[in-house]
Amino acid sequence: MKNKTKILTVILILTTILSFILSGCSSAAPEQTTSAGEDAPAGLQGVERVDDGRTVVGISMPDRLLERWNRDGAYLKKQFEKADCEVILRYANNLIDTQISDLRDMIKEGADLLVVTAVDGAALSSVLEEAADYGVKVIAYDRLLMETDAVSYYVSFDNYMVGVLQAEYVISQLGLNTESSTRNIEFVTGDPVDNNARFFYQGAMDTLKPYLDSGKLHVLSTQTGFYETATAQWSTDIAQQRLQIILNSYYPKGTRLDAVLCANDSTALGATRALQADYNGNNKVIVTGQDGDIANIYNIIDGSQSMTVYKHLQEESVVTVALGKDIIAGNTPDDKLISNSAWDFDCTYDTEEYNNGNKVVPSYLLRPIAITADNIEKELFETGIYKRNSAGLIYTGE
Ligand code: BGC
Repeated sequence: MKNKTKILTVILILTTILSFILSGCSSAAPEQTTSAGEDAPAGLQGVERVDDGRTVVGISMPDRLLERWNRDGAYLKKQFEKADCEVILRYANNLIDTQISDLRDMIKEGADLLVVTAVDGAALSSVLEEAADYGVKVIAYDRLLMETDAVSYYVSFDNYMVGVLQAEYVISQLGLNTESSTRNIEFVTGDPVDNNARFFYQGAMDTLKPYLDSGKLHVLSTQTGFYETATAQWSTDIAQQRLQIILNSYYPKGTRLDAVLCANDSTALGATRALQADYNGNNKVIVTGQDGDIANIYNIIDGSQSMTVYKHLQEESVVTVALGKDIIAGNTPDDKLISNSAWDFDCTYDTEEYNNGNKVVPSYLLRPIAITADNIEKELFETGIYKRNSAGLIYTGE
């Protein structure tokens, strides 16, 4: 009798262990919940995370104001869904608190992976720690997440190169290597809480430095520093107001302005409006940009903006989805993700460039291209990225 009880107890223990192991492996396992106890982060105390075998991806985008984030969000959602993931897509309206609560909701709703483009790169550390506590992996999308260990990877473009392309365009158009006359330039850079803004700035400044140092290029406002040329939230209105003040203060009738180096298209729109309103000269002022937003495409075609730097958003989301799937499968992706994927576009794996203050974040970086009136048809229309309807109106073709 004693022996029989012993045998029964052993069988019971073995069955319990077996069912425990199986429930951890199978996606068809009965619904499990993980409950956050007293030690859980404040925002998630008492939260029960449902792990019912679904694969959930939370995508947190900064705002809907900029054309690109709408497209990024849509591309990412579509491609993750194609890969059998459930997607929660939220836009934070450029508000840090909204983004934090969006991310908390995603963690509560069972996200396995977060894809985050931060409103403010350094403001999400604590909610990202919460994600890490639950084993939720994080990809920084386009903008690096700063001062956190809880980010696994970064997908973006060669952001330094964006600034280099803008500056090289200015150098060639103003004939800085071929003509003897000196030229005047002003700078409209990005949002300082976006790590990318500093890379764009540095790429442009390093490239223009020899000409600024030699006096070939002048900045009559004397505003060349990162912060004094910055544009909060990449706002068109703020960019416009700042350039109008500069034009009214430093460019009276007869003083020529040759170029405005703008970090992206939303600031370029502001600069173009400021020039139309308050510039007294007759020359065409060079205006640079980045993104290829539709409003700016029209301006490049009509000549009021000179160039933009295009970043292929579909390709950025293709890389992100491939990376996300590999992470969810439990792998630790590296440069082999690129060779195995055999994409028909350039992508490099970088383990040095992007230090977020806590660690160097392994990065997948794509190649930006310069777009001018000369190559816009070939690069953006013949490739189908943009199309025209019968009335000639431009729309995104992807
Ligand atoms: C992106 C740019 C964009 C800017 C403003 C940057 O982080 O890389 O493409 O124009 O944010 O949203």
